[in-house]
Amino acid sequence: MKIIKKVKEMQTWANHGRLERKKIGFVPTMGYLHEGHLSLMRIAREVCDLLVVSIFVNPSQFAPHEDFNAYPRDFQRDSEMSKNEDVDILFAPEAHELYPEGFQTYVSLEKIPMHLCGVSRPIFFRGVATVVTKLFNIVKPHTAVFGKKDYQQFLVIRRMVHDLHMDIEILGAETIREHDGLAMSSRNIYLTKTQRASALSLNKALKAAQTDVESGINDASQIIKKTKEFISSHPETQIDYVAICDPETLEAIQVINQPVLMALAVKVGSTRLIDNMILNTK
Ligand code: PAJ
Repeated sequence: MKIIKKVKEMQTWANHGRLERKKIGFVPTMGYLHEGHLSLMRIAREVCDLLVVSIFVNPSQFAPHEDFNAYPRDFQRDSEMSKNEDVDILFAPEAHELYPEGFQTYVSLEKIPMHLCGVSRPIFFRGVATVVTKLFNIVKPHTAVFGKKDYQQFLVIRRMVHDLHMDIEILGAETIREHDGLAMSSRNIYLTKTQRASALSLNKALKAAQTDVESGINDASQIIKKTKEFISSHPETQIDYVAICDPETLEAIQVINQPVLMALAVKVGSTRLIDNMILNTK
């Protein structure tokens, strides 16, 4: 595995790969890798000849009060894990190279970011769309894989690629969970023992909602109310949103008579966690 830190070197390498008719697969991450990230690498590995993984904690997607400085980092561990997944290139640029002085060009979407996480994190999706565009222009992948744990992010990338005619195939990967159902996240490391127990309420609530929908309950507000009460009954939880919405547009849905997305964001202590599930009617 080769570690590349410079943009130009990465681009040169990508050009060579393409000239040799190799299919480039790409998994962008912010590092502190876990099984969720590794699952994306395995999906990309299957469909490409050369696998590139990036590790970059992207400053433009964090608001000043968020956890950019505290975000967990362990490059040594990440590079060992990547090597074990047969990654060809680990691309780890410095922030000043991606955002040099005078930087002023951003990519933003009009509608999808107006919902869910975009409400409490108004600059987040602009930061994500911008950095992913930059990474796509540097790594030049044929295929890139994103996790549906960050469902809204997945929609943003898919829409952006479509709208801007980027010639890249976007694959969505299912959420990888701990044995007890907690969605894996680099941020889970922040949780104390009590908070870790409370964090489980997210997945439990989604499962309960699925059971309710299967049993014929179709009133979204009833399910949302029950979910909020359930999660709030756990210590140190503070709900950001509980939403039932259209899986493509993220517009709220009142009556569940088709598959819907149920999405949650909850602060447990000071750690913001998200999870989601597609609820299917019987
Ligand atoms: P990060 O949170 O490191 O996640 C990198 C990729 O791993 C994303 O596509 C995310 O959806 C996926 N992922 C995270 N947890 C997962 C899980 N439990 N199961 C499956 N996939 C999971 O998302 C980002 O970084 C950044 O916003 C990024 C896209 C790299 C742009 O900066």
